[in-house]
Amino acid sequence: MSSHRGNKPLGRLLALGFCVSLLGVGACGNDDGLTVTAEAQASCVGEEPTEAMKLAGAAMLPGRVCGACHRTGGQAQNSPWTVSGTVFSGKNSPCNSTEGLPGVFVEILYGQDDPMGSYRAGALQPNGRLKTNSAGNFYTAQKFVAPMRARICESTGADCSSATRVATMTLKVGSDPVTGATQRVDCNLCHYASGQALTRIYLP
Ligand code: HEC
Ligand code: HEC
Repeated sequence: MSSHRGNKPLGRLLALGFCVSLLGVGACGNDDGLTVTAEAQASCVGEEPTEAMKLAGAAMLPGRVCGACHRTGGQAQNSPWTVSGTVFSGKNSPCNSTEGLPGVFVEILYGQDDPMGSYRAGALQPNGRLKTNSAGNFYTAQKFVAPMRARICESTGADCSSATRVATMTLKVGSDPVTGATQRVDCNLCHYASGQALTRIYLP
């Protein structure tokens, strides 16, 4: 991962994000312009991030919608993730917990057969094997073919296909329903109790 700045304390900057609009536009400004927006917080209902979670870097803001900032034109546009999220140990783990699960493989699979016959639905995509870090976070800027499916597991093998603890998503994601164009996949966007998936991404 190219790290131009590395970890730095953003607590103050993030805290300023909550001062919002009483004093009008610009009152909460700072050099990075970093604010924990409602969009980023949507998957962590009622949980303000702790100071430790506000450190910019791989373990930041677990459970939050990474792509609210890590996208073209976003607050972290130098690291636009194509796929990102957090694996937790519990079905309904709070974002502000120690339940982020490290060492879990997150695999990005093809969602359908290649019309030209070069890959099959369900096969692992190139560079599609990610591993969760100490916070349970995973992220990548690699390009994938949409639609895609996802599978998570704990495994010592070459992929999740022979793992004993594995969970596979049936839903295909990453393509615009109308145009079919490839879209950023924010796994945390759907994975919370009142989101589309109704659960965290977790390993049963
Ligand atoms: C509120 C905005 C925001 C959210 C949400 C957010 N980040 Fe960040 N992140 C930043 C900023 C700002 C930086 C530092 C500037 C940069 O790297 O572009 C950063 C830096 C990083 C870096 C270091 C990148 C590098 O090249 O050095 C990683 C890794 C990272 N974030 C991962 C994540 C993950 C994973 C999530 C979701 C679980 C996430 N971030 C959520 C704003 C955010
Ligand atoms: C558009 C919303 C949405 C997005 C984005 C999304 N998911 Fe899901 N996910 C769901 C829904 C709905 C289900 C339950 C039905 C199913 O399995 O398809 C699910 C189920 C799962 C399951 C299986 C859970 C079980 O019951 O065993 C896993 C694992 C999973 N998702 C991982 C991921 C990962 C990893 C990502 C990001 C690459 C992701 N999801 C992105 C909506 C989403």
